[in-house]
Amino acid sequence: MSLKVLGISTSPRANGNSDRLLRQALAGAEAAGAQVEYVRLSDFKIGPCTECDGCYATGICVLRDDYERILSKMLDADRLIFATPVFFMSVCAQAKILIDRGQCLWAAKYLLKKTIAPKRPDRSAMVIALGGSKSKRMFESVRLTMKSYFDSLHVRYAANLFVNRVDNCGEIEQHAEAMKQAFRLGKELAAADTPATREPVDVELT
Ligand SMILES: Cc1cc2nc3c(=O)[nH]c(=O)nc-3n(C[C@H](O)[C@H](O)[C@H](O)COP(=O)(O)O)c2cc1C
Repeated sequence: MSLKVLGISTSPRANGNSDRLLRQALAGAEAAGAQVEYVRLSDFKIGPCTECDGCYATGICVLRDDYERILSKMLDADRLIFATPVFFMSVCAQAKILIDRGQCLWAAKYLLKKTIAPKRPDRSAMVIALGGSKSKRMFESVRLTMKSYFDSLHVRYAANLFVNRVDNCGEIEQHAEAMKQAFRLGKELAAADTPATREPVDVELT
């Protein structure tokens, strides 16, 4: 049975740079035989966490919107590819709203000691992030945020593809190395026999 790979494009810009890299990574996963699904976060209506603590008793978010729909996709996938532009040194606001709604996952795991995805123990994820500047430090926040999120989601943090100095819409297509690495990392992520490493595989390009 082929692995399911879900790619989540979080940028508000349609067909932007992180989106194009994500689709390249999904093409790599498909080449490895995976069943791939691409979603744009902006197609889901998801509000921010209201810190009502309603999930602390059940591990389930009490807000009713499209969050449940995207969460079930994430829990149903063997592999996740999460793509974000860097906005003010971190993930974009749209991505952060999704991540903060993960407080119910945190509650389930750490307060209630519940396992949220028992059918898929071997889940792993990759992050694609890029920004217009040459600052390498802009990925520090992305890395910390995603590590914390993936811990709550019960997925292993397998790889990063971080790219500097990509600004104008579509410019990433000129960055042959980034496109190549996205395909390669997507393919490796979807290869069931890839050995797990303790730290994420890092590819940082300028
Ligand atoms: C609100 C906003 C904040 C940004 N902040 C940063 C930043 O902190 N560092 C950086 O290198 N680029 C920053 N950028 C530039 C974007 O990361 C860059 O244009 C990127 O290519 C956008 O990717 P996308 O096409 O996938 O949305 C910012 C852009 C916007 C609109």
